[in-house]
Formats: sequence, C-alpha cells, structure tokens
Amino acid sequence: MITYEHKRIGVLTGGGDCPGLNAVIRAIVKTAYNDYNWEVIGIEDGFEGLIQPGKVRPLTPADVRGILPRGGTILGTTNRANPFHYEVEIDGEVKVFDVSDDVVRHAQVLGLDAIIVIGGDGSLRIAHELMRKGLPVIGVPKTIDNDLSATIITFGFDTAINTAMEALDRLHTTAESHHRTIILEVMGREAGWIALEAGIAGDADIILIPEIPYDIEAVLGKIIARHRQGAKFSLIVAAEGAYPIGGQPVYQGVREIGGVKRLGGIGEIVAQEIRERRISDVRVTVLGHLQRGGSPSAFDRILATRFGTAAVHLVAQGKLGEMVALQGAGVTSVPIAKAVAQQKLVSLESDIVRTAFDLGICLGRKRAELEAEFGLPHLGADET
Ligand code: F6P
Repeated sequence: MITYEHKRIGVLTGGGDCPGLNAVIRAIVKTAYNDYNWEVIGIEDGFEGLIQPGKVRPLTPADVRGILPRGGTILGTTNRANPFHYEVEIDGEVKVFDVSDDVVRHAQVLGLDAIIVIGGDGSLRIAHELMRKGLPVIGVPKTIDNDLSATIITFGFDTAINTAMEALDRLHTTAESHHRTIILEVMGREAGWIALEAGIAGDADIILIPEIPYDIEAVLGKIIARHRQGAKFSLIVAAEGAYPIGGQPVYQGVREIGGVKRLGGIGEIVAQEIRERRISDVRVTVLGHLQRGGSPSAFDRILATRFGTAAVHLVAQGKLGEMVALQGAGVTSVPIAKAVAQQKLVSLESDIVRTAFDLGICLGRKRAELEAEFGLPHLGADET
C-alpha cells in the first residue's frame, strides 16, 4: 500500500460565483481523503478568509455530502478582496492597504501545504502574485464568461448559456405573438461567448458582442429586412460589454468599495434607437445574475469534478503554481502565469462566428465591412 506524506490543503473560491463551484469543493475533499488521507481546510469568502480572522474551517467528506447539485459556493466568495489593493472604508474615507504579506503569514500559521484557488482571471492573477511571495497555490479556473485562454472551456459556462437559451426560447414566443423586437442583455464584460453561443442556441437574429463594436444601422437594417421577409419580430442578444463603433461600454452607478465598475444598460440603449426610428415595438430583458445562480448542468458537474480531483493530484505531484485546464487530450495543467496572460476573446476567424454568419445572424456590422476590416474571406451577402 502506498502511503503519502501527511498534508493539509486549503481551498477557497474567489470572484463571482458560478454553477459548479460546490462540485469542485466536493471533489477536492473526497480525493484528498480517499486517495491521500489528507486534511482539507475551507477558507471562506475568497482571499478575505486569509485576511480576516475566524474564516477557516475543516472540510470533511461529511461536510460536502449532498452539495454536488447546489449552485453557489458553500465557502462564500467575494470579488472585492484583492490583498494587494485591499480597500477599507474608515470614517467615511476609502483607504487602500497591501495585506499580501499577512495572507502568506496566515497560510503558514494554518500549516497549509497548498491552497487550491478556484477563481477566474482576477483571482488567479492574485494567486500568481501571492505565489511569488511564497504562497503555495494550485489554480482551478471558473467563470461563466469562458474567457480563460488556457482551457477549452470553464465550468459554469454551459449552465449559463443554457439559462440564457431558455430565456430566449421564452422571449421568442412572446416576441412573435406581439410582433416585437425583444432584446436580451446577458453577461460578458469583455468576451462575448455567452451572447454568441446562447444566441445561436436560442435562435437570435442579432448578436452584439464586445469584440465587434456595432453599427446601429446594421442592427436596424436587419430588423427591417426581417419585416420585409414576413418575420415581424426579432430577437437580439446583447452582451453587457457590447458598445457601438466609436462609443464606450455602459456602466452602472458608482463603483462598490474594492470592486470593479458594474456594466449594464446597453440593451436599453439599443432599444431606444429602435423606438426612436419607430421600427418596431421593443422590450428589454436583463438576465443578470440568473445566469450565475442555480444547479449546474451535467456537463458543468462533470468538468468541475474532474478539475477538483486533478487539482489534488497536482498537489501530490508537487506542481505548485499550476492550474488545471481542459485541453485536447483531457484534463491537464498549465502554469497559472501562462493561463492569465491572455484573455480568450471571440475570434472573428472562428468557425462559430462563421456559423453565425452562415445562419444569417447579424453580428452588429455589415458582413462586407467586417471582411474588409478583419481581412476575412468572403462570408456571403447581408440580407436586404
Ligand atoms: O465575471 C463574471 C461576471 O458574470 C461578469 O460577466 C459580470 O460583469 C460580473 O460577473 C458581475 O459580477 P457582480 O455583479 O457579482 O459584481
């Protein structure tokens, strides 16, 4: 029988939540106990749990029983606790501190041999910086936005696009009945994956993504062309980060302490243009955090579970600083530094964009313009 040196590993979930986080936590705990007989310590609320006292607790197989189908994260999370830029409000004034050394010390005091950080590009970037200060980290990528380049796909994305697709199916029937244009605004700050894939799966006519600043005339032209062809309704999916040529993404309100500025409102802006030109009745639905909540799909449960088990094996192999990733050959690992170096954006040369074009979906610009601007092969004519 192989015996392994005893280890105590920490696990935290950072950044925005997504379906599948609990599946990863469960897989980590089960693998650590079943395969290695190691202890697992749960760290609450992302890196906040290593900044504030009293936010760690042991996680045993009994603690993770039944959590596989549950959305969210039993450990809690935050997208506001960057230890290198920790913002605190003191007497009405926001002060910034670098508490990264405290985080590393806290992990040492807890006797952690490794910390598995389940996070998106923001949390993984922080993990990488902390690694350079001596924190022994392993990364697990998560994000509904699917914008991490080192992995073919992140868990959470599949559930999110299914939620958005279902919303489109529902909007389709009411749009058609009322002869309306309905705009569904979905998440996606800089990457349009949710809008593009949910839009194709949900039969959208127009998809607006941050990678292609849109021309409102192309959008209006598509709705008018559909009317001429007898389709008196249209479905538009707009990523929250979409914006017009020469314009800017739309932000909401003031930035929360420690957070980034929230996007939102592009759907209403596009609706206003349609209204003003009296092209059709128009309604807007903002899907918001419905995309982040709820039970993970089978695909996400399986991928999250594979990532969780693989992360523990990386600890056993001493591969600190690596992140699990899904690549052609299956689940493998890449250096976290490499994983966060480049964001995965929608490429205009990808087959999925070509598919959208082939279906006659308007991506916010006239095809000929996109072909000329991005040096693409001739993709066919616009509908007129
Ligand atoms: O990173 C995922 C994401 O869903 C973005 O698409 C979105 O802008 C952001 O989270 C919203 O996060 P929150 O409302 O939790 O601050």
